Amino acid sequence: MASRLGTQLGEWRATTAVAQSLADRIRMLLLDGRMTVGERLPSERALAAELGRSRATIARAYELLESGGYVVRTHGSGTRASLPAQRLQRPAAADHDVIDLTIASIGSAPGLHAATVRALDRLAGLLGTPGYSIDGLPELRARIADRYTARGLPTDPDQIVVTSGAMHALSIVLAAFGERGRSAVVEQPSFPHAIDALRRTGHRLLPTPVTPDAGPDGSGGWDANHLVETLRSQRPALAYLVADFHNPTGATMPELERARLAAVARATGTLLIVDETCAELDIDRGWTPRPFAAHGPAILLGSMSKIAWGGLRIGWIRAGREQVAALLGARPSIDLGTPLLEQCIAMELFDEIDALLTSTRDRLRAGRAAVAAGLAEHLPGVAMPPMPGGLAAWVDLGGPWSTALSLAARDRGLLLPPGPRFSASGVLDRFARIPITWEPALTTEAMVRLGSAWRALHAGERSSREHLDRSAVV
Ligand SMILES: Cc1ncc(COP(=O)(O)O)c(C=O)c1O
Repeated sequence: MASRLGTQLGEWRATTAVAQSLADRIRMLLLDGRMTVGERLPSERALAAELGRSRATIARAYELLESGGYVVRTHGSGTRASLPAQRLQRPAAADHDVIDLTIASIGSAPGLHAATVRALDRLAGLLGTPGYSIDGLPELRARIADRYTARGLPTDPDQIVVTSGAMHALSIVLAAFGERGRSAVVEQPSFPHAIDALRRTGHRLLPTPVTPDAGPDGSGGWDANHLVETLRSQRPALAYLVADFHNPTGATMPELERARLAAVARATGTLLIVDETCAELDIDRGWTPRPFAAHGPAILLGSMSKIAWGGLRIGWIRAGREQVAALLGARPSIDLGTPLLEQCIAMELFDEIDALLTSTRDRLRAGRAAVAAGLAEHLPGVAMPPMPGGLAAWVDLGGPWSTALSLAARDRGLLLPPGPRFSASGVLDRFARIPITWEPALTTEAMVRLGSAWRALHAGERSSREHLDRSAVV
């Protein structure tokens, strides 16, 4: 009888370097999600008979997979699929010829220098205080609250906690409300460091799919029925969602789905954590959804990183008053407040937020055009997905090639995180995330390198590398 692996290998045939070719194919099945982590592979003898190859060839293929960390062999339980233990590596010394597309974030806002100079005067008025700012400066909390109110969600400054970025905000929320051992819904794909944070705090992850497919008004992409069914059947403790502009697909969750989801989450006792770091990165969507909590209970995360500068490290949490008390109770075990100078700079920036957003939007529009032109010229057949806003294009490569493409790109001085980096279970090798945040000239050069990697991949050239480093993906 054909094994599951034998069926999945399908038309695979090789006449040279057979063991290497077989190992590569199995690795791709695993990264693409067609083979699951922990799945048992057939014995060497059985697979050899099924594929009409020698047992030595199969043994060599399994050895190659084992040395790369893609299978684990234990006496008595056979050979099981695995993913390599990935280590966070400090990036190698800056190589000025390397283009780093692992980061999807804009350079600092044009007015940042002037805002910093003005902020020094504000800081002068605070120098006599102890300086610990556990919940955030009242004037900054008021500006953040006013912004929510202007966007259609009446908010009081007491509902805001200022943090050192959205990731820090998520850490505080998980310290206060995470439940080790319980399940948490996460989108597939999602923001990799949020996936890691949920995992690190002991949550069992339940992926729910999101695609860039949007309706006529630019919203859509979630499988609302899957999401609701998951909540009803699993009753997860938490759900972490990026409702707009979803990173990495750029999708916007429709308002009706938000309301339905909030109602179901209330019934299943699931805490919704909605990360709105990218919510204001609209290029030409044509309408603006209200913040998620306008539709029902949810903790919101926000940040200045994508509208002003990642180097500022200013973010915030919007929550109910009782939740704020729990957050402030949990925070001191993590840190004792956000730096005052950065908060003063953020206040200055909020005073000119409309100009800030216009400039960000113009830069994203130019970056989007450069990515679209680069795809058309250098990766024929790979379409630019619809993306009315957000940080990056989530590109469907048409086959499970993202990891191999990333390896080939790295050989050409281009760092590009492979699709599986955005998945809670290591799948999505059909996709690559290409940021639209970089200067057009740099993006154009990046696309030339990507095109060269793409052609080499399709010409059957193997990368000199076996692994991608696991670096920060922002
Ligand atoms: C959805 C999402 N959340 C959080 C972050 C990180 O935000 P911060 O720099 O404020 O920690 C990013 C950065 O790309 C993001 O896309």
